[in-house]
Amino acid sequence: MARLTVGVLISGRGSNLKALIEACAAPDYPAEIALVISNKPDAAGLDYARAAGIPVAIIEHRAFPDRASFDAALDARLRAEGVGLVCLAGFMRLLTEGFVVGWHDRLINIHPSLLPAFPGVDVQQRAIDAGVRFSGCTVHFVRTATDDGPIIIQAAVPVLPEDDAERLAARILEAEHVCYPLAVRWFAEGRLAVDGNRVRLRGAVAPPETAFSPAAS
Ligand code: GAR
Repeated sequence: MARLTVGVLISGRGSNLKALIEACAAPDYPAEIALVISNKPDAAGLDYARAAGIPVAIIEHRAFPDRASFDAALDARLRAEGVGLVCLAGFMRLLTEGFVVGWHDRLINIHPSLLPAFPGVDVQQRAIDAGVRFSGCTVHFVRTATDDGPIIIQAAVPVLPEDDAERLAARILEAEHVCYPLAVRWFAEGRLAVDGNRVRLRGAVAPPETAFSPAAS
């Protein structure tokens, strides 16, 4: 089985990178991570890559005069590795239109909200402040607008009365670690068809159940 070659871009903790590394360790997983790039030299997530023997590149955005030249350096490195899918995993830099267009439908992101609700930053606190009963995570193809693009998978988690941003973030993160490896698997298996703003998943999937929050007791 030829495995899909994946490049992962991180800026920090790297727990989603860790989830992807663990998924790739399964012999039947159809993807492998060829390269992890961080724009921060001290990103904790780099240790997961190093421990797994995955090549890492530190490309510091500060070293470049503008976004376009930084993105060109990312692009060159990813192409040199023969990457077929780029995964943003807590990569906290806005990418230029040139980069996004160059990786059209081969660039995906994970975000800790049920998009299109709460794009941007500080999203768990914003969800709590808005009084929503559910939040969650979204894996989506990247388009030029921030946290926008055809949705591959979402997971919903309840927002509980006693939640603060940290507790909600932790609950969402658990769902992220399930969703991202699944989305990459489906991409690698060629099961995702982008049709305008919608993504069709080919093949059998069990229909999810309706969830209620709060649930009637
Ligand atoms: C994750 O919650 C991810 O969804 C979020 O950053 C965190 C990174 O955690 N991404 C965004 O907010 C993108 N807009 P990690 O470094 O432990 O994977």
